[in-house]
Amino acid sequence: MANISTSTSCIMLVMVLTSSKLMHTCFSSLTCPPGYPEHAIPIYKEDIDMMQFAENLEHLEADFFLWSALGYGLDQVAQWLAMGGPPPIGAQKANLDALTQHIIEEFGYEEVGHLRALKTTVGGFPRPLLDLSAHNFAKLFDQAFGYPLVPPFDPYRDSLSYMLASYVIPYVGLVGYVGTNPNINGYITKRQLLAGLLGVEAGQDAIIRSYLYERAKEVVHPYNHTVAEFTIRISELRNRLAMCGIKDEGIIVPLELGAENQTMTNVLSANYDSRSYRRTPQEILRIVYGTGDEHVPGGFYPHGGNGRIAREFLENP
Ligand SMILES: *[C@@H]1O[C@H](CO)[C@@H](O)[C@H](O)[C@H]1NC(C)=O
Ligand SMILES: *[C@@H]1O[C@H](CO)[C@@H](O)[C@H](O)[C@H]1NC(C)=O
Repeated sequence: MANISTSTSCIMLVMVLTSSKLMHTCFSSLTCPPGYPEHAIPIYKEDIDMMQFAENLEHLEADFFLWSALGYGLDQVAQWLAMGGPPPIGAQKANLDALTQHIIEEFGYEEVGHLRALKTTVGGFPRPLLDLSAHNFAKLFDQAFGYPLVPPFDPYRDSLSYMLASYVIPYVGLVGYVGTNPNINGYITKRQLLAGLLGVEAGQDAIIRSYLYERAKEVVHPYNHTVAEFTIRISELRNRLAMCGIKDEGIIVPLELGAENQTMTNVLSANYDSRSYRRTPQEILRIVYGTGDEHVPGGFYPHGGNGRIAREFLENP
């Protein structure tokens, strides 16, 4: 009864004084309770290393997107989040059209928020050394095609090349969060942090994929392969490196990998039930190191990832 009358007076107040600040106060206090179970534990000790592991990927995304869109990275935007880690190798501004530039700039700032949320909630470690050089991407694409592309693939060449290079990254973050989820128990870590980060990673991946799907049949200049073929090769490479079956699919697939065996369109990569695939930290490291071995650093992380999970693999080969 008390609640009803407070909420009524709140609404009346809103009607009288259409101050947005007041409206916010009224609605947030009465209609938007936090929704957590009583006596729930916010962060379990066991959650911490697993959530920190994600900072490795968030760092990769943050500097790749920020540098490519703005010509500078985390050290200029939010240096405290780098925690003294070395600047990335070979990061640079990409030659992007206005649409792509705006999307990537937004993604970059989103990653800054993700890093802030992670580091302020579960603590963090210094940014690992990242290799964002065109040369490193070229090696990865050569590995995907099984022969050296001529000229070498350059992610910074134009918008389409950049989106193909971006296809490589948020998807790994997405399947990593899906894989981590069952092991996380705290309501802050699971619901606020993991679910919130997963949602945006999935959104970024979907935007990249639909951008590429729109151009699926275009030949990627100056190569003799279509956009669809690039995505298929990259997805196959990630499956090979991770060594755990098919958990990654290009934007065009055989019917048996499409939704309900009905579509060759595969704008989202998902399993039998059209649920997101999930990967373990080992699988993720095999992919982002480009070595197929979580004990052998390389690829985007010349010295390996940071945090207890990644360091333990490196120290116990
Ligand atoms: C490009 O691919 C098409 C179709 O696969 C083929 O017919 C053509 O010869 C190729 N061109 C070059 C330059 O490799
Ligand atoms: C799709 O087809 C395969 C056989 O090719 C079958 O095993 C599978 O159950 C089918 N999936 C669905 C969702 O019906």
